[in-house]
Amino acid sequence: MVCFRLSPVPGSGLVLLCLVLGAVSSYALELNVTDSEKAICLYAKWQMNFTIHYETTSKTYKTVTISDFSTATYNGSICGDDQNNPKVVMQFGSGFSWTVNFMKEESTYTYSIDDISFSYNISDNTTFPDAKDKGILTVRESVGIRIPLNNIFRCDSLLTLEENDVVQHYWDVHVQAFVQNGTVSTKEFLCEKDRTVTTVVPFVPTTAPSPTATPAPREKPEVGSYSVNNSNGTCLLATMGLQLNFTHNKVVSVININPNTTDFTGSCQPQTALLRLNGSNIKYLDFVFAVKNENRFYLKEVNVSMYLVNGSAFSIANNNLSYWDAPLGSSYMCNKEQTVSVSGAFQINTFELRVQPFNVMEGKYSTAEECSADSDLNFLIPVAVGVALGFLIIVVFISYMIGRRKSRTGYQSV
Ligand SMILES: *[C@@H]1O[C@H](CO)[C@@H](O)[C@H](O)[C@H]1NC(C)=O
Ligand SMILES: *[C@@H]1O[C@H](CO)[C@@H](O)[C@H](O)[C@H]1NC(C)=O
Ligand SMILES: *[C@@H]1O[C@H](CO)[C@@H](O)[C@H](O)[C@H]1NC(C)=O
Ligand SMILES: *[C@@H]1O[C@H](CO)[C@@H](O)[C@H](O)[C@H]1NC(C)=O
Ligand SMILES: *[C@@H]1O[C@H](CO)[C@@H](O)[C@H](O)[C@H]1NC(C)=O
Ligand SMILES: *[C@@H]1O[C@H](CO)[C@@H](O)[C@H](O)[C@H]1NC(C)=O
Ligand SMILES: *[C@@H]1O[C@H](CO)[C@@H](O)[C@H](O)[C@H]1NC(C)=O
Ligand SMILES: *[C@@H]1O[C@H](CO)[C@@H](O)[C@H](O)[C@H]1NC(C)=O
Ligand SMILES: *[C@@H]1O[C@H](CO)[C@@H](O)[C@H](O)[C@H]1NC(C)=O
Ligand SMILES: *[C@@H]1O[C@H](CO)[C@@H](O)[C@H](O)[C@H]1NC(C)=O
Ligand SMILES: *[C@@H]1O[C@H](CO)[C@@H](O)[C@H](O)[C@H]1NC(C)=O
Ligand SMILES: *[C@@H]1O[C@H](CO)[C@@H](O)[C@H](O)[C@H]1NC(C)=O
Repeated sequence: MVCFRLSPVPGSGLVLLCLVLGAVSSYALELNVTDSEKAICLYAKWQMNFTIHYETTSKTYKTVTISDFSTATYNGSICGDDQNNPKVVMQFGSGFSWTVNFMKEESTYTYSIDDISFSYNISDNTTFPDAKDKGILTVRESVGIRIPLNNIFRCDSLLTLEENDVVQHYWDVHVQAFVQNGTVSTKEFLCEKDRTVTTVVPFVPTTAPSPTATPAPREKPEVGSYSVNNSNGTCLLATMGLQLNFTHNKVVSVININPNTTDFTGSCQPQTALLRLNGSNIKYLDFVFAVKNENRFYLKEVNVSMYLVNGSAFSIANNNLSYWDAPLGSSYMCNKEQTVSVSGAFQINTFELRVQPFNVMEGKYSTAEECSADSDLNFLIPVAVGVALGFLIIVVFISYMIGRRKSRTGYQSV
């Protein structure tokens, strides 16, 4: 590992840079931009290369790839202040530079990787032999990746930007601008490509008779416990594993909610109750419960907004649902996987579900009304127990007979 300590950059403190030798001819670049108090305000670690297509003096085309950044310096990288946005500026080779601009959007608690520009010196005839053009050429790409504040953006997958004659490849990207209190966040915001990759980790059900009979393999979400309190104590309880399935631009993404990194709040009223979850990818996921006919409750509404990597948000609401129906004063339970279909583009798969949005006593669930899928299972349990008992009786009877015969022959031989 080679570390560089560069001279202080005016107005932004010290810039430290490390070049870590990565796998075969690729370098991981790492950069800490610090403020005047030497606290980290911008962190980045990534790998990249650029492929450039250019015309030669003999009217043919050549392609070169730039992947050696061993001469990189970071003069001009700044934390940002009231007037200026944060940016990473990198210089390398003879007259090459690369700039990434960040922006903050206070109202939505997000920041974005706004744009990336790359300038190359086509006059540099060692890099571009026989190039027809001369001078510095620049490509600028608007990126618009939006990230929640105090989250580190991570993308192990390959991100490709293509414009004019330049293809930019980025991978193993970790970046956080607007770092708070000098501590790089441990909360990761994954790019879309990583999310779809990590959520389809093969899950092999133990009962699967053969791999070919297994439907689309996937991992089950972890079960989380959520509750809402009011002045009288706990007023809403929910325990469930949640898996979100949404379709955006024809791409289906399946995300498991990790309860460890999910926050929850809510409210309770006599006729309606709300449970709201949020996390790094989820701006909000609202479950609204209502009372009907003064004696039953049900899930009436789901309102969701998720952050997408392209900078936009995916939002859907449906206030005309009818799921998880049970008598007031009891809880609703469904151990088997169930699907709440919010819209054609958004479904929630629930696992080991139990909810009680009204009349919670002493912070505990009341008796449960089970879903029909579970009661099929419950009907099977006594059957299974009966079969097992019958089998046991037969075994005991046979052993008794054998025992009796043995002891009888024993007496005879004496
Ligand atoms: C940047 O800061 C992080 C966290 O303090 C540290 O682990 C890393 O080694 C630093 N990198 C450089 C290049 O100084
Ligand atoms: C540039 O990066 C891409 C993506 O990782 C890789 O496939 C390609 O081989 C790299 N090119 C060079 C010359 O290193
Ligand atoms: C950094 O860049 C500024 C102008 O962009 C220049 O004035 C300054 O001399 C440079 N510093 C170093 C150390 O190269
Ligand atoms: C571009 O490359 C040429 C040839 O190597 C060099 O003379 C020139 O100074 C470079 N331009 C910049 C801005 O560094
Ligand atoms: C690059 O250009 C310089 C003049 O600008 C020339 O002297 C040199 O031979 C060229 N090198 C190559 C590899 O073409
Ligand atoms: C940063 O420090 C302030 C004041 O000490 C605190 O309120 C805030 O929660 C801290 N933020 C993070 C992300 O640790
Ligand atoms: C708290 O309990 C009391 C007595 O059961 C009830 O009258 C009151 O409305 C409850 N308050 C809330 C906020 O639910
Ligand atoms: C709700 O109140 C109970 C005690 O009544 C407490 O143990 C629990 O942590 C509280 N939950 C929340 C989310 O504040
Ligand atoms: C996700 O939704 C799509 C479209 O509705 C469906 O085809 C697919 O089976 C669903 N996947 C899961 C894991 O629920
Ligand atoms: C959540 O935390 C528990 C205990 O800290 C741990 O056992 C579990 O693996 C974590 N789950 C995930 C998905 O990170
Ligand atoms: C949930 O939202 C609150 C404020 O709306 C925020 O402080 C918190 O960090 C969010 N939780 C997660 C896990 O992103
Ligand atoms: C969904 O939630 C958002 C934000 O809280 C709100 O503006 C919107 O009106 C809600 N939609 C429905 C249908 O409740």
